[in-house]
Amino acid sequence: MVNRHNIVLIGYGKMGSALHQGWLKADFPATYSIISPSQLPRSEGSCHYYNDVQDSAFQEALKNADIVMMAVKPQKMREVCAQIKPYVSVSSLILSIAAGQTLQTFEGYFSAQQPIIRSMPNTPSAIGKGVTGYVCNDACSDTQKQLVHDLLNISGAVYELNSEDLIDPLSAISGSGPAYLFYFTEALTQAGIDAGLPADVAADLARQTMVGAGALMEAAPDTPPSTLRENVTSPGGTTQAALSIMMNGDMQDIITKAIHAAVSRAKEL
Ligand SMILES: NC(=O)c1ccc[n+]([C@@H]2O[C@H](COP(=O)([O-])OP(=O)(O)OC[C@H]3O[C@@H](n4cnc5c(N)ncnc54)[C@H](OP(=O)(O)O)[C@@H]3O)[C@@H](O)[C@H]2O)c1
Repeated sequence: MVNRHNIVLIGYGKMGSALHQGWLKADFPATYSIISPSQLPRSEGSCHYYNDVQDSAFQEALKNADIVMMAVKPQKMREVCAQIKPYVSVSSLILSIAAGQTLQTFEGYFSAQQPIIRSMPNTPSAIGKGVTGYVCNDACSDTQKQLVHDLLNISGAVYELNSEDLIDPLSAISGSGPAYLFYFTEALTQAGIDAGLPADVAADLARQTMVGAGALMEAAPDTPPSTLRENVTSPGGTTQAALSIMMNGDMQDIITKAIHAAVSRAKEL
């Protein structure tokens, strides 16, 4: 018989619900107990939803949890951890997806003996195309690491980091990264409108181009993006005219500064 894992989700906003929906679709063998003040679906099957930490059924679920996933905003984390701590077993694994909250912070909220994994997924995880990096504290067993790896792997690629110092740069690249690409799509749309295209046509062209370029990278994992770029750049042609503006201008500088800002902000949270 398949071993069903008890997973408790604390917070059911954009990221918590996206991950959960992916695990459900993949039929991961688990029973889920989910708490969030927001509007929640009705409990059914393997999913039990709660609004109140004082609910004794929820407290029981916490006591028996294999994994307690923390998916509230970083600013709420201290308060929420204090609320649940009395019911969390010292052997349950705490899995955080919060930006900027360190392993040491969580050890402060719970204890240094508590197994804790700090992870950083991104929103494409909702459709199994995500990237998640994670780092573990010393209290995690190999079995717990494997369980979390398997769980996160449902949502896309997974990287175990050997140093927590790497998680803020990872967050700045892949955690926030989808927003940069959406912004680039918006900018491309606006440039198309400025060049005379109808707004809806410009939006479709920009969007489908991003989708197609992403799919090409996915289809050719061993081909570097620079080669894919060169494949569409004839010497002296139109693409080269555009790229010479981007590459000789300060685009790399802006991107480097933006990533630096994201890393700095993560350290402040
Ligand atoms: N969104 C991303 O792209 C992304 C990527 C990687 C990591 N993350 C991390 O994921 C975490 C959640 O982000 P999000 O974007 O999903 O935020 P969100 O949509 O605002 O979700 C946060 C959820 O926590 C709930 N909540 C608030 N107080 C609570 C409490 N006392 N107990 C239980 N639940 C409570 C909120 O309910 P109400 O709405 O009713 O307040 C909301 O459903 C953050 O720590 C963030 O750093 C997000």
